[in-house]
Amino acid sequence: MVAIFLAVFSCVGGAIGFAAESKSSNQPKELPVSAEMAVAAMPVAVTAVAPSPLQFDDLPRGGEGELIRYGWRIIDNTPAALGSPATTNRLSCRNCHLDHGTRESAFSWRRATEARPRYQAREGHKVSLAEQVNLCLQRSLNRSPLPDDSLELQGVLAYLRFLAEYPAAPTDAGREPYIAPDRTADPVSGEGIYRQYCAECHGAPGDTAQRNTPPLWGAASYTEGAEMHRLLTAAAFIHANMPPNKKITAEEAYDAAAFINSFHRPPLPNLARDYPALREKPVDCPYPPYPDQFSASQHKYGPFAPMERERLATGAADFRLYRQDRRQQLSATRPEIPQQTSK
Ligand code: HEC
Ligand code: HEC
Repeated sequence: MVAIFLAVFSCVGGAIGFAAESKSSNQPKELPVSAEMAVAAMPVAVTAVAPSPLQFDDLPRGGEGELIRYGWRIIDNTPAALGSPATTNRLSCRNCHLDHGTRESAFSWRRATEARPRYQAREGHKVSLAEQVNLCLQRSLNRSPLPDDSLELQGVLAYLRFLAEYPAAPTDAGREPYIAPDRTADPVSGEGIYRQYCAECHGAPGDTAQRNTPPLWGAASYTEGAEMHRLLTAAAFIHANMPPNKKITAEEAYDAAAFINSFHRPPLPNLARDYPALREKPVDCPYPPYPDQFSASQHKYGPFAPMERERLATGAADFRLYRQDRRQQLSATRPEIPQQTSK
C-alpha cells in the first residue's frame, strides 16, 4: 500500500489538494514510485503505535506539563478558554485539527514544529510556529492574534511541541492523495449530499442561527481568508473525515465542499495582499487578484486542472510548488508535464 504514504510531503505555498485516507474510485491505477517516496514512507510507518486517541489524562503533569495542559484546553474549547467578547466565532482548533491535532488526514500538527520558521507563499516570508498559530486564530477563528509573551500562546506552543513526539491517531489510516474530479464543482448537487450526510449534525442547509456545532458558514464560522475556504482543502478534509463514521466519495466531497463554501462568511481585511508573489497563489484560492485570465468563479469552483496546466505550460508556476499528491494527479492526467523529482 504505497499510496498511504505518499502525502508526507507538503510543499511550500502552492500546496493544492490535501491527502485523504480512503481509496477513491477515480484514483489513477499506476502511481509512479520513486526512491523519494519510498523514503517518505518511513516516518508514517510508525503511526500504528498509539493505543487510543490522545486524551487529556495522557498529558504530562507539573512544570512544562501544566503549560501543555493549558494549551490543550485552549485547543479543545477555544471559545471557553479565550472568551469571545470581540467575535461571534464558535470554532475551536480541534474542530479542524481532529483528535487534537494527531490525525494525519486532518491537518495534523505532528510535524508543525519541524523546520520552522518556514517560507509560506501566502505570507511571502518565513513564518514561525507562533505566527502560524496566530494566522489560524485570525483566519480560521476570526479572532485577534495572541501576544508573543501571553500565557495563552505559550500554552498552545508547548502543546504543539509536545505533539512532535506523539504518534498519529490510531483511528487514522494515514494520508492518501485526494483526487479531485476534473470538473466544475456543483453546489446544488452538494446541497443534496449535505442533506443526506451532514445536516443531522451541522444543521439545516444555510441555517444562520448556528445552533449546531461546529458551524460551517455564517458569522460564527471560518473567514473568507481561511484555508478551509479553498475548495480542494475543504473537499479533501471532508472526504477523509466527514461524516465521522461513514465514507463518501471524492465526487460527493467535492460538491459538499462547494455547497458549504458557497455561503457568506466573515470577511478578512487586506486579502489582496496575500501571495505577494502572485504566481505562487494556489488555483483554488477563491479571492482576487489572480495571476491568470480564468474567471473568479472557476477559481472558486473549478475545474482546477486546466488552470494548473496553463500555469505549468507557461512557466507561471513551478511544478515544485505542488504537493506530491497533486503532482501525481497532474502528471497522470497529462503525461507530457515533466515530473520533477526535487521538492
Ligand atoms: C455525526 C455528526 C457529523 C456529521 C454527520 C458530519 N459532521 Fe462535520 N463535524 C462534526 C464534528 C463533531 C466536527 C468537529 C470535530 C471535532 O471537534 O472533533 C465536525 C467538523 C467539520 C468541519 C470542520 C469544522 C468547521 O466547522 O468548519 C467541516 C468542514 C465539516 N465537519 C463538514 C462536514 C460535512 C460536509 C459533512 C457531510 C458530508 C459532515 N461534516 C458531516 C460532526 C459531523
Ligand atoms: C476552520 C479550520 C481550522 C481551524 C478552526 C484551525 N485551523 Fe489551523 N489549519 C487549518 C488548515 C486548513 C491548515 C493548513 C494545513 C496544511 O496546509 O497542511 C492549518 C494549519 C495550522 C498549523 C500549521 C500546521 C503545519 O504542520 O504546518 C498550525 C500550527 C495550526 N493550524 C494551528 C491552529 C490553532 C492553534 C488553531 C486554534 C487557535 C487552529 N489552527 C484552528 C485549519 C484550521
